Amino acid sequence: MEVIIQNKTEDACHLTARLIADAIRIKPNLVLGLATGRTMEAVYGMLAKMHQEEGLDFSRVITFNLDEYIGLEPEDPCSYRTYMNEQLFNHININMANTHLPLGNAEDPDAECAAYDKKIADAGGIDLQLLGIGRTGHIGFNEPLSALRSRTRCKALTPGTIEQNAPLFDDPKRIPRRAMTMGVGTILESKRCLMLVTNAEKADILAKAVEGPITSMISATAMQLHEHCTVIVDEEAAANLEQKEYYNWVFANEPEWEKYQD
Ligand code: GLP
Repeated sequence: MEVIIQNKTEDACHLTARLIADAIRIKPNLVLGLATGRTMEAVYGMLAKMHQEEGLDFSRVITFNLDEYIGLEPEDPCSYRTYMNEQLFNHININMANTHLPLGNAEDPDAECAAYDKKIADAGGIDLQLLGIGRTGHIGFNEPLSALRSRTRCKALTPGTIEQNAPLFDDPKRIPRRAMTMGVGTILESKRCLMLVTNAEKADILAKAVEGPITSMISATAMQLHEHCTVIVDEEAAANLEQKEYYNWVFANEPEWEKYQD
């Protein structure tokens, strides 16, 4: 795992967008794992701008989102499908047939989850997975006690997660209590992971995720098991990290990061 601390939130988002764009330039048919949440909105705005201004080409990119609420139709204004269309897909030249999210209103959610893992495998696995972190320390919707080897499946949301995401619903009572989410094991199979964490409200959970013991109570700690996970944070989110100086030294001195110094 490596941790990159950027002074400003905007810089953390920009570095994340640049790393995704570079991965697409190297492999135009990249299999890209995507995340939702307020943190990602700036990243998607920057990627859309790179498409419009620099011709970043998404025509062959294949995407898989981490999760979707159970019970919402894709067209629901609060579904993650709508979020993705509005934040990113409608602004780039992606082939919509290549964009995947679990179907929230599937008749058989368990079968939908199993089929989702199969689709990922059939695409050759995820090359680059973008991740945020929930206030409870979840990745995707892998709530406490998510097995570290779990596959895409249905998961009940904690009251804390429901409260955190309720403002995004017109009527907070409409927020589903369950979601389909890639499993921790599914996420760990991605070839590379980029975790973006910003703002002071995430400082406590980020320190636990990166420097605390691995536990299924905080699924983000599982990223310590991943061979190539880069955690990008702003100063506020980095506030409680003990080894800040070490992370800063690595970023400033390791040759692979040289071109990202500006
Ligand atoms: C939801 C998503 C997570 C995301 C989290 C954080 O719970 N399922 O994938 O990381 O929200 O959202 P925000 O960026 O709004 O804090």
